[in-house]
Amino acid sequence: MARRIDNDIKQYYSDRAYEYDKTYLRPERQKDIKELHRLLKTLFKDQNVLEVACGTGYWTNTIASVSKFITAVDINDEVLQIAKSRGIPSNKVNFVKDDVYLLSKIQNDFSAGFAGSWWSHISKSKLKPFITLFHSKLRLNALVVFIDNRRVKRSSTPISGIDIHGNTFQIRKLEDGREYEILKNFPTKKEIRETLGKKVKNLKIQFLKYFWIVSYNI
Ligand SMILES: C[S@@+](CC[C@H](N)C(=O)[O-])C[C@H]1O[C@@H](n2cnc3c(N)ncnc32)[C@H](O)[C@@H]1O
Repeated sequence: MARRIDNDIKQYYSDRAYEYDKTYLRPERQKDIKELHRLLKTLFKDQNVLEVACGTGYWTNTIASVSKFITAVDINDEVLQIAKSRGIPSNKVNFVKDDVYLLSKIQNDFSAGFAGSWWSHISKSKLKPFITLFHSKLRLNALVVFIDNRRVKRSSTPISGIDIHGNTFQIRKLEDGREYEILKNFPTKKEIRETLGKKVKNLKIQFLKYFWIVSYNI
């Protein structure tokens, strides 16, 4: 089951690549998006960042404007091509095609880690193993930041189903009419805290109207 869920997510984002960035133009979300750009620019100043599931490089671009260097990983060629076309200087970024559940091409020497709208796509049974692997690629005391979506009535796609583990699903439709059922979880602050456990330091969880952002050190 987990493999089918992961393949569906991979396929959906490959097919959605060319319409993905429209999500960042939604008028009601602009205030939050502006605040996220501001927070990311503060947090990642001068860091050597590992970003996973970078997609079209929307946040990569913002982080690269202040960080020392960013290594941005995604599994789909279609989104990586768009990310590469943003014109981020080559001495600031390296895009790598890899699976976030393996990170086999990634060495462990980063001062910071980041993932945008990725936590929500991880099934509950894979969340802790993913976080352990992600942390293993970062230096001691590294900064970790996740941002993700909150579920907001009349703005979020409705929940189409829930499985026995409590994972929730949405039916997503592309502009050409193709439909996909995608795992999308909306954790509470308590769930985020419990998932990260007691070992992380300086944990900050902030819920904006449409997004949440968590930062901590390992
Ligand atoms: C919701 S998008 C987030 C994109 C970007 N981080 C953002 O916030 O705009 C999720 C991304 O995860 C990528 N993805 C899906 N499965 C993956 C996997 N197993 N390994 C690496 N990337 C994956 C998709 O290609 C997609 O670009």
